[in-house]
Amino acid sequence: MTHEFETIALHAGQEPDPQTGAVVPPIHQVSTFKQDGVGGLRSGFEYSRSANPTRTALEECLAAIEGGTRGLAFASGLAAEDTLLRAVCKPGDHIIIPNDAYGGTFRLIAQVLTTWGVEYTPVPLSEPDAVRAAMRPTTTVVWVETPTNPLLSIADISALAAIAHGSGALLVVDNTFASPYLQQPLSLGADVVVHSTTKYLGGHSDVVGGALVSSDPELGERLAYHQNAMGAVAGPFDSWLVLRGIKTLAVRMDRHGENAAAVVDLLTSHSQVRQVHYPGLPDHPGHDVAAKQMRGYGGMVSFQVAGGEQAAVEMVNRTEIFTLAESLGGVESLIEHPGRMTHASASGSPLEVPADLVRLSVGLEHSHDLVADLQNALG
Ligand SMILES: Cc1ncc(COP(=O)(O)O)c(C=O)c1O
Repeated sequence: MTHEFETIALHAGQEPDPQTGAVVPPIHQVSTFKQDGVGGLRSGFEYSRSANPTRTALEECLAAIEGGTRGLAFASGLAAEDTLLRAVCKPGDHIIIPNDAYGGTFRLIAQVLTTWGVEYTPVPLSEPDAVRAAMRPTTTVVWVETPTNPLLSIADISALAAIAHGSGALLVVDNTFASPYLQQPLSLGADVVVHSTTKYLGGHSDVVGGALVSSDPELGERLAYHQNAMGAVAGPFDSWLVLRGIKTLAVRMDRHGENAAAVVDLLTSHSQVRQVHYPGLPDHPGHDVAAKQMRGYGGMVSFQVAGGEQAAVEMVNRTEIFTLAESLGGVESLIEHPGRMTHASASGSPLEVPADLVRLSVGLEHSHDLVADLQNALG
């Protein structure tokens, strides 16, 4: 029997504990497991870097909610990204990256992986022809973020999967902004989905984590091998927190989207706002593609302030409910200045973000209070 997303998120990987009947998987805070004689594993577990029951519960749930065959949980989103890229690339390979992406992903590829001999080209992923033109015989990965951080650009996942696969490359989608409730890249042809589970999956700003989910079992095995060999795994308590967050993902994402729509209504009509970036807006260049591949438009909004960088920096200091902080996807609303905060590492690069840009992670407070807070701060 097939089940709906909400049911899968609550139950996949989370059978009641066979020993005690506990309906929530226990936190197996343990490093090693007793063996019944050499090579005789009692429960299938031997050492918690290789596998831990709480992490396994999360990994099975991650695979199920993304519609994949293998889920893997990591200590952070960047740990997941590094493990993936070292598993599927070798020195001399080429990666296509978005010209608008999370600054930390750009830093990992441009500053760390290039020292290992990997090359990259930043491309506007909303233009499939530009991606086709940038493909090289050595291209092994097309890296997609959709919606992007922080400009909320949209890429057509099916179109890019066809281009990548036509050249024998893998299509990787960072699904952090949308979450699997709003968008399921594997069903659109992606080979691997990446998450910073720190964000919507954890959902409460109390854990740092990452995930990979693949559809092909052989690729899943290769990633699992590298997860163990490189060792950047999620710990048992962090796995448990993410698993708990996933249970309410669907209801949270619905409300994040409703509150974001109310905030966007204010911003689009405000004289101090020059431009609003939100894929739910009919005049957003990626609106039609977003409507085709997403169930809703999510809780992330960015906008450019009239008055430039100084006005943007002053505005983000004036909100009272929106907390000035990096990160996103938690129950509380956050505001930040990407140019000087999350995306400072992209300064001077093709991924540099506009200086007058403000990013909002619209949380679950009442929309009236959120709108009033922004109205006050904008003046
Ligand atoms: C879209 C996206 N991908 C990846 C990451 C990296 O995740 P982490 O901070 O958990 O390492 C982030 C972090 O902000 C992000 O926003």
